[in-house]
Amino acid sequence: MSIYFCAEKKIFHLQTANTSYVFCVAEHDALEHLYYGKKIPMDNIKYIGNRQWYAHHAHESRESRDFSASSLSLEISPFNSGDIRTPSVAYNVGGDIHCNRLRYRSHKIYQGRQPIEGLPYSRETEQTETLEVVLSDDENNVLFTLYYVVFADVDVIARYQTMKNTGAGSLSIQRFSSMCLDFYGMDFDAITLEGIYLYERGHVSRFPIKRGVFKCNSLTGTSSHNRNPFLALCAHNADEDIGEAYGFNILYSGNFMQEVSVDYLGDTRVVAGIDDTGFSWTLGAGESLVSPEVVMTYSDQGLGGMSRNFHDHIRQSIIERKFAYSHRPIVINSWEASYFSVSEEKVLALAESAKDCGVDTVVLDDGWFRPNDSKGLGDWRTEKDRFPSGIQGLADKVHALGMRFGIWLEPEMVNADSDLYRTHPDWILSTSKLPLISRKQYVLDLTRNEVVEAVANRIIEELQGAKIDYIKWDFNRYMTEAGSFVSPQGEVYHRQMLGAYKLLSILKEHFANVLFETCAGGGGRFDLGMLFYSPQIWTSDNTDPYARIYIQNGCSYAYPLSAISCHFTEGDCTSGRESTYEFRYRVASFGSYGYELDLSKYTAEEKAIFKGYSEEYLQDECLNLEGDLYRLISPEETDYYAYIKVSKDKKKAQFTFLELYASGLVESMALRLKGLDPEKAYKNENTGEILHGATLMNVGIRIGDLYRKKRSDGYTIRFTAIDE
Ligand code: GLA
Repeated sequence: MSIYFCAEKKIFHLQTANTSYVFCVAEHDALEHLYYGKKIPMDNIKYIGNRQWYAHHAHESRESRDFSASSLSLEISPFNSGDIRTPSVAYNVGGDIHCNRLRYRSHKIYQGRQPIEGLPYSRETEQTETLEVVLSDDENNVLFTLYYVVFADVDVIARYQTMKNTGAGSLSIQRFSSMCLDFYGMDFDAITLEGIYLYERGHVSRFPIKRGVFKCNSLTGTSSHNRNPFLALCAHNADEDIGEAYGFNILYSGNFMQEVSVDYLGDTRVVAGIDDTGFSWTLGAGESLVSPEVVMTYSDQGLGGMSRNFHDHIRQSIIERKFAYSHRPIVINSWEASYFSVSEEKVLALAESAKDCGVDTVVLDDGWFRPNDSKGLGDWRTEKDRFPSGIQGLADKVHALGMRFGIWLEPEMVNADSDLYRTHPDWILSTSKLPLISRKQYVLDLTRNEVVEAVANRIIEELQGAKIDYIKWDFNRYMTEAGSFVSPQGEVYHRQMLGAYKLLSILKEHFANVLFETCAGGGGRFDLGMLFYSPQIWTSDNTDPYARIYIQNGCSYAYPLSAISCHFTEGDCTSGRESTYEFRYRVASFGSYGYELDLSKYTAEEKAIFKGYSEEYLQDECLNLEGDLYRLISPEETDYYAYIKVSKDKKKAQFTFLELYASGLVESMALRLKGLDPEKAYKNENTGEILHGATLMNVGIRIGDLYRKKRSDGYTIRFTAIDE
């Protein structure tokens, strides 16, 4: 059991293995937050909330001034409710702003959880328990239900809420976040993952929060290349191993916000969910709206602990079970090999040569239905001159070679030059006579059900009968003027996401055993919403290994290694920078590994090297799928990157050291490993040497000793625990 309710004190205590989350029904039936952090005992919670009087704070009681919503920590805070801090929801009835005070009405606790209809959510495990708390605003006939879904073993609590209009008139929502969380004090650093196309999540941005409001958000209609829905709040002294760290992430792929505000009392509030810029939603009589889910975790073992909690939770509950812990295809993707000039002949040649490299899946990327990016999106008609056997025939030929077959799609888009757009010019997200264009394409209006169904049907028809094992689902432009011919303007961005998730669900149901990899012009939608549908995401079009180190390191703060799709490529297509094969392999094997280059150009000796890489990767793939990651050196703070992946039973580990710049100091550097069992003896599989976990973690590895070979290659040591 992980959710407790003390009826006498009206206290809710949510307990995970190492954390406690506590709130209560306070005076005037307000829902007061009491504590979130390291686990505390059940029986000694007192009211620890703020009952001071501050000038200008309005209070409920005529007799006493010491209860004001403005100084309480709250579980939800509507605008115009007496709390003058950043609200977590804002709504009005019939255009008038009313007083929106919420009172606790009831709650229920149960095993498991309800799925969230139409949106991604954390799937239940045997341990999952849910608390629903109902609050009402009786003056306006509004009901809120706050959901707390507890995943005790991984120290994760998921939160979301629904809002229902129980009145006869309509109600308009201007802000509808998924959660509100108040902390005493402001002694936190915030960490966000910042970037840009070709450098997605490459900057792990850390800064002390100050009084005022900090907002990490996206207005692109995607979670974006530039920002990410992940946020950490940690102690100023928190590092990879020690110190308190809270992590938050939103299961949403559209306009999101993580807002951190420090008020005049010096306290911190986190509000997370849908970004409210331009948002407004009308609820008719009896209608409801559900928010996206936010997951949060706490660790007193620093940022490493926070990341590992999230990795475990994502693998266990967000990624579909049937893929989460299973071998991921080692693909050869046609994009960097042929770009748009791909053909059946080239794909088969690629498949032939990839067979010798330990590759198991051939992916036909963009170009199978169009000669360049200017036409064909939306029509999805295979180019018969370049693909004479059609997709079905090609897939059969690839299977006959003993390989699996994957295909690229971009279902949410339409080219301006397409029959679909010519027939339905009102099916795009723009009501302008001259819509803004990007990559010669428009975003389809998925707020319209008929569009969702037409796209799904066309794709299903075109791929009918083809043996498809893998789909790469791309999305190559932002929503820049998201207006719909039919849907209300303020609802378009969110309805568009609901339509996109619906389209994903329809096609996933049709291609039931197909592994989906999502992508958005590289890594423009690397988020938990997408991971609910696709076990892995294309991380970035930048495959220069030096840049990839930063990009992949950034991703690892919030996302498990198996979700981070990485390819061995020519290495220099974005940067022109040279790197050795081995260095490229070491960097790419950080996540789910594959290839993206014209393997038919390489010699038998080179293919044998690549085959060796595929085999080495497979030996340790289980560490990506199930193990723990310990980041050892930050590339942002040093000229190196090092990490160790350790199996849960601590019997197997893989340590990797990569040098970004030859700064001369590595010879004398001793690097302490982490995550091993101090009591176990480990065999260094490269040298045969046997060392104790305690020695490896306290004395460390002398990096100079590794470099009897080329420094520019990077270095990996595999450790196996031996029975003594
Ligand atoms: C995006 C993807 C690439 C490739 C191209 C095809 O940029 O990130 O990997 O699929 O689209 O147009």
